[in-house]
Amino acid sequence: MTLDSPKEIYLDNAATTSMRQEVLDEMVPYFSENYGNPSSLYSIAQIARDAVDESRENVAKILNCKPSEIIFTSGGTESDNMAIIGVAKALKEMGGHIITTKIEHHAVIHAMEELESIGFRISYLNVDEAGFINLDELESEIKNDTSLVSIMLANNETGAIQDLPKISQIIKNKAKDLQREIYIHSDAVQAAGKLDLDTKKLGIDLMSLSGHKVRGPKGVGCLYLKRGIPISPMIVGGGQERQRRSGTENVPGIVGFSKALALANEEKNKFNTHCRKLTDLLKLRLQNLEYEHIIVTPNEDSLSNILNVCFKGFEGEPILIGLDMEGIFASSGSACSSASLEPSHVLVSMGIDPKLAVGSIRFSFSYENTPEDVEFLIESLENVLSELSMLAQA
Ligand SMILES: Cc1ncc(COP(=O)(O)O)c(C=O)c1O
Repeated sequence: MTLDSPKEIYLDNAATTSMRQEVLDEMVPYFSENYGNPSSLYSIAQIARDAVDESRENVAKILNCKPSEIIFTSGGTESDNMAIIGVAKALKEMGGHIITTKIEHHAVIHAMEELESIGFRISYLNVDEAGFINLDELESEIKNDTSLVSIMLANNETGAIQDLPKISQIIKNKAKDLQREIYIHSDAVQAAGKLDLDTKKLGIDLMSLSGHKVRGPKGVGCLYLKRGIPISPMIVGGGQERQRRSGTENVPGIVGFSKALALANEEKNKFNTHCRKLTDLLKLRLQNLEYEHIIVTPNEDSLSNILNVCFKGFEGEPILIGLDMEGIFASSGSACSSASLEPSHVLVSMGIDPKLAVGSIRFSFSYENTPEDVEFLIESLENVLSELSMLAQA
């Protein structure tokens, strides 16, 4: 390993992405000359209002919904919290039972725990060894008082894609039998720019998105909330976003999010073809790696750009530090929980031995990565694992 490694290879695009220059260019005027408050009446404020309205229309087109069904938020976490806590509270009299999965992002899991602490019953669906829910279990968990189901579209640690159209069909059929409304939320934060976000085709009523996963700004995202679904606002104040999310709009952020999402959505086929080649190449090269490992990402129905690998007999953190010294940036499990040495709740739910799960590294690619990056990664992995093995034996 060399401390002054000349290369910098960013393989943590599921944690965050670099912002595109054209997105930044679009945002800059709203920090400077177009600084008006969109709620004010004079002309410079109207420029900001128009920019927010246009951004809302652009996002709505991608989601195949009405602009009024888009609520701009501070990102994926807020959207998830709002979809779950905000809707559950508003639906309380309809029923106190909610269904989710064991592999959701903490923004969903902790929101569910919050609801449990105030009396809601939450069912956490199991997943199989590839990370997919069981549709029969889902159906059997739907009860007379189920009001909301939250199932992520693509998992942030493994890339596993759940079959939302099928899931939605099961829930809607069961809701019909029970003669009640059951709303479906999906965290699509990782799916944006990779999968079709058409809410009608997916059959969902609420969806969370985040700007910084699609080469847009951090601290901005949106919640799609189908018309007619009641919501109890989590942030109250001036009544912006049709009383659903108060606070002066983050105009540059909203403009940047909408632009980044549009570009990522337009280019998703190109992105997927490119990244699939890289994850396939990495899988191929891993076959010749001297060190025992398992690939956690499923072979089918997974995002093109994520490959999660567990290295047997190693902990993820020292591997990450070693890779960092080689100029490679990756993540162990979820970046949001990388400060803890606990094995990932996602991998444990998939039945992976916790001792193996602590050796998990997630590599997540972008359009900027190249096959040479993969070759360099393999070389570096060999070096890092060999040094760590020697240290363990010393
Ligand atoms: C699946 C998923 N949901 C939600 C979030 C949270 O999004 P944000 O960082 O915009 O709050 C993330 C971020 O890692 C994520 O991967």
